Amino acid sequence: MPKLAIMLIISQAHLRKKYLFNIYFKIMKIFIDTADIDEIRGAKKWGVVDGVTTNPTLIKIAFEKFRNKMSMEDYIKEICKIVDGPVSLEVKGFKEEEMIKEARILNEKFNEKNNVVIKIPICTSPEEPFEGIKAIKTLEEEGIKTNATLVMSPTQALLVAKAGASYVSPFVGRIDDYIRDKLGIKYGKWDYYDYSMVRKIEERMLEAGNILEAYKKNAGINYSDNGLYSGVDMVKSIVNIYRAYKFKTRIIAASIRNARQVREIAELGVDIATIPFSVLKEMIIHQKTEEGVKKFFEDTVEEYKKIFM
Ligand code: E4P
Repeated sequence: MPKLAIMLIISQAHLRKKYLFNIYFKIMKIFIDTADIDEIRGAKKWGVVDGVTTNPTLIKIAFEKFRNKMSMEDYIKEICKIVDGPVSLEVKGFKEEEMIKEARILNEKFNEKNNVVIKIPICTSPEEPFEGIKAIKTLEEEGIKTNATLVMSPTQALLVAKAGASYVSPFVGRIDDYIRDKLGIKYGKWDYYDYSMVRKIEERMLEAGNILEAYKKNAGINYSDNGLYSGVDMVKSIVNIYRAYKFKTRIIAASIRNARQVREIAELGVDIATIPFSVLKEMIIHQKTEEGVKKFFEDTVEEYKKIFM
């Protein structure tokens, strides 16, 4: 962390408390995965959100409401102003030089609070696959924080850490989509994916009868993505690799689609989860809590009510 940032933190009591707490206790951070200012403001009031991640699609959706009211630059400035923690903003270029140039522009225009992180796609073309990695290395050396995005495998994440990125964003939901598509499973974007069931099916088929025959019969069916059965599996593998070598890159589990996925990646001890507004709400609502609240309200006797008058 740069000296200036540490001095700023030490000089502000509330930041100091949070900073020292984070040093002594590893706590999972929650970012909100949105570019919608109203959602960011709302989530900030809940007091459990530590940062924001955006991408061009999220900005396109969110800016629609504000298109006639303010400029894009002012809109993004406002986001960076509201948020106390890191705000990820993505570059649009494909080449190393373009990405570096755009990152510097984003940093210069929006990093007033020293909270901007630049999202760099890990691989922009199979012909020249290392453009993103090269950009990450240069930017981090310049002191510009990066978040490697569109990460879909542990080996990509390993290269991200080697390049020295501040953050890596493995896309949990999109890996689930990919495996379900390959298996011909129909699903809605926010549906939970029962990958343990897929594993069981594969195991049973291999167990049934002659294992070699079963293996040959199923050779054409690819149940996994290179040995990973889900996005959660991918995060688990990245956590293990990063722990084994004590890489400093922080893992942001991204492309989260439901509360159960949040639980599963939290159990892995992931550093950060970036979560859409709707999933944050899903995390707190429970039918039995609602039922309990109603019952306790109904059972509150007059004498108890009087205490509060
Ligand atoms: C955040 O870093 C990602 O851009 C985002 O989580 C992608 O989510 P999606 O796969 O639901 O679009």
